[in-house]
Amino acid sequence: MGYAGSGNAGKTVYEGLLKLEYRGYDSAGIAVLSGGKTELIKSAGRVEKLGVPAQKLGGTVGIGHTRWATHGKPNDVNAHPHRAGSVTVVHNGEIENYAELKAALIAKGEKFLSETDSEVIPRLINNFYEGDLLAAVVKCARMLKGSYALLAIRDGKEEIVAAKFRSPVILGPGDGCNYIASDEPALAGKCRSVCVLEDGDFAKITKDGFEVYDENLNPVRRGLTANEAREQSLVLCGYPHYMIKELWEAPAAVKNTLTAFGEVSGKVRAALDGAKKIIFTGCGTAYHAAMLGKRYFAEIPQISAEAEYAGELRYSPVYPCGKTVLIAVTQSGETADTVEAARLYRDAGATVIAVTNCPHSAISRIAHVVVPVCAGPEICVAATKSYSAQIAALLSMAASLVDGAHIPVDAGFAPELISETLENMDIYALAEMCARSRGVYFMGRGIDYAVALEGSLKLKEVSYIPGGGYPSGELKHGTLALIDGSTLSVFIITDEALAAKSMDAVEQTLSRGGMVAVITTLPQVQAQFSRRAEVIKLPECQKYIAPLSAAAALQLLAYRVAVILGKDPDKPRNLAKSVTVE
Ligand code: F6R
Repeated sequence: MGYAGSGNAGKTVYEGLLKLEYRGYDSAGIAVLSGGKTELIKSAGRVEKLGVPAQKLGGTVGIGHTRWATHGKPNDVNAHPHRAGSVTVVHNGEIENYAELKAALIAKGEKFLSETDSEVIPRLINNFYEGDLLAAVVKCARMLKGSYALLAIRDGKEEIVAAKFRSPVILGPGDGCNYIASDEPALAGKCRSVCVLEDGDFAKITKDGFEVYDENLNPVRRGLTANEAREQSLVLCGYPHYMIKELWEAPAAVKNTLTAFGEVSGKVRAALDGAKKIIFTGCGTAYHAAMLGKRYFAEIPQISAEAEYAGELRYSPVYPCGKTVLIAVTQSGETADTVEAARLYRDAGATVIAVTNCPHSAISRIAHVVVPVCAGPEICVAATKSYSAQIAALLSMAASLVDGAHIPVDAGFAPELISETLENMDIYALAEMCARSRGVYFMGRGIDYAVALEGSLKLKEVSYIPGGGYPSGELKHGTLALIDGSTLSVFIITDEALAAKSMDAVEQTLSRGGMVAVITTLPQVQAQFSRRAEVIKLPECQKYIAPLSAAAALQLLAYRVAVILGKDPDKPRNLAKSVTVE
């Protein structure tokens, strides 16, 4: 986050960092230019720790950073900003050749203070400085391999210089001031429009304006787009946590996504026309949505649908066979593995469709077609409403392709289904069971397996209870060994055609003395297990939209368990929302 104006820079940068904290929260720091000199504060822990000292910093130009550690422990020294001579820098991303740069700088007599890769940046800039900070930053950038969104200031001149490569940077004009940040929410309520920098861009920001340059220092024109982030999304509005607030926002997110799909359906059909192979990809929760996408498209004859983790896909050989379409699912649109997988496939001649919540993100600039996910800013690190909206987008895509012939789905009912699930579900007893369990395993078949994986990830993320997600049929091939009276198995059963098979797996688990819960839309499943297991009955619905109901139940379950165990569901340990590094 950076600010150049005439107000209190320390306070303004601090407020921006609070809004960006979901991107990393293990340490934070702020540097301001005050009377030509740089004042710096930094500390391990949450941004809040800087509140009082930041107010006192003052200054009229400032930069700040909230960190998710990649190199070096989260402690005071490794926190950004990093300083060398008169130069101070904050950096997002990862410098892959930092070890060799560091060795060369040490050989020249530099003394490093931190264990970070980032510290090479201020040291290089300081070495290259010959009276022009922008020129020194450009020279430094030429030496760097990896990804960077960096801001640099230097004693004596009221300006910020920025550089961007494979990590997001946006600029925003304010009222008598200018801002720079890594994401739009930081500028919510401050800038109505933003300028999104492209890879290879440099920028100079002062109180009076900002200019963008290429690496030869030629000015570059970048237009302004509306800043979609609203302050309303960044406050709790009476909810105790963002996770529960955002869970309740899922019906609106799904509704808006279904509506927005109407505007791109023609382009999507054209992009998918004649496709022989469709590969779905993403990371974490987005990958679990991608798995559902694969299941939906697998219903369509003559299309081969696959799903693969983006981190695996980007390092696998690319074999386009006939027309290949890559569908990349990503809330942030900035996840490094997903962006690079999309770039790889586009460069290999495949058509790329991005399903994303962030229209200004890197993936949107790579994809041939963008399918909007209209979930609004998601602040809780654990994805909830964005996952539901991704499912709605993928379902709309599959259904539109076959005009409902193979996927007879009434997606319009989905928002109501989620509301009904959340309103009527009594999940407390199951949450208590989870909280007491040594391990929690989620099982399902077909579509329910993809949902089981997400249920498991959500619970692990916010409660730290170990466990996993498995296909119900795989249980007897090994996982059954884990089952005893201290483990809980949660079965998701919504597909009538596969219900009997999953019910066998429930029986096998009960026979081994394991605790069992069943989450189902089917009355016959409820009847069979209501006396022997904890049964959560979901509203009856078509199997294709059942994942939306089951996901709401599992998200609420994870939230309740986190609360019972006293964990912060919004900021799970060790995690960050947008993973722009490998
Ligand atoms: C889990 C979660 C992560 C993200 C993953 C991909 O709750 O949020 O697993 O889904 O890091 O992020 P995006 O969707 O931004 O690409």
